[in-house]
Amino acid sequence: MLRDRLDAAVKAVAVQLDQVVAPMGAQPVVAAMRHAATGGKGLRGFLVLESARLHGIDPAQAIWPATAIEVMHAYSLVLDDLPCMDDDDLRRGQPTVHVKWDEATAVLAGDALQTLAFELVSAPEVGKGEVRAVLTRALARAAGAQGMVLGQALDIAAETAASPLTLEEITALQQGKTGALISWSALAGPRMAEADTAPLKTYADALGLAFQIADDLLDVEGDAATIGKATGKDADAGKATFVSLLGVTGARQRATDLVQSACDALHSYGDAADTLRQAARFVVDRKN
Ligand code: IPE
Ligand code: IPE
Ligand code: MG
Ligand code: MG
Ligand code: MG
Repeated sequence: MLRDRLDAAVKAVAVQLDQVVAPMGAQPVVAAMRHAATGGKGLRGFLVLESARLHGIDPAQAIWPATAIEVMHAYSLVLDDLPCMDDDDLRRGQPTVHVKWDEATAVLAGDALQTLAFELVSAPEVGKGEVRAVLTRALARAAGAQGMVLGQALDIAAETAASPLTLEEITALQQGKTGALISWSALAGPRMAEADTAPLKTYADALGLAFQIADDLLDVEGDAATIGKATGKDADAGKATFVSLLGVTGARQRATDLVQSACDALHSYGDAADTLRQAARFVVDRKN
């Protein structure tokens, strides 16, 4: 069930992206944008489509914010991989954008992916103006200096911090760098339906942390060929992660507890939210 819905979400986003990017022509920067936005697990787009489905929103509307968040996420990864950030050569089993093209193209492709995300989320097809404004403003906050950018800045600063970060500090860092975009994704459905966002907010906060803990565990325990990116990078760079603070066993336990909290938060939706519950388990059981 989950596998089918995830696959369907990835395909639907790819089709939408093709349609949007086709008129942009064949400039290297456009090829780099396509490259960056292809080959991911599609979790954030899936969360948009699934939270929308839960609130009776037409998939023809939801595909726009679903594509927007995958494009925004792709931008964050292009910049995350730059030599001045994590300096990674491999992403999704492919060369990173600055390796396949060059740094200037990577920065520009990232810029254009970010602006494309705002174009898509504010598209007329999404619904009435007020809903589009709420989604767009929330996306700006989630991606910016109170959200993803803040988390990334804290992540880089922690590499050279004089003392290890506390649990509260690592939680804040991860809520920004990973949690903010994941949370926006899960809230897209209730926002589009102008419904209560509280249950999915609790779900997504727990899910986002569990997701990043799994990412940190894969960096330690994962297989580079399977995860499609280099491993052992966090310890080498002196990153502050739950694994660096709690160890592998403690971090895994924390992720398991968070999955339980995420599932519990969905009780008001009953069985209709089973796919989101499966997604929470997938997030910590995944091998890539
Ligand atoms: C990787 O995200 C970066 C983090 C925020 C931890 P994903 O694991 O969702 O990456 P893709 O999109 O599937 O490649
Ligand atoms: C990346 O976190 C988070 C963002 C891009 C916002 P990581 O640096 O841990 O992601 P990976 O491990 O390179 O995918
Ligand atoms: Mg990073
Ligand atoms: Mg990285
Ligand atoms: Mg990582």
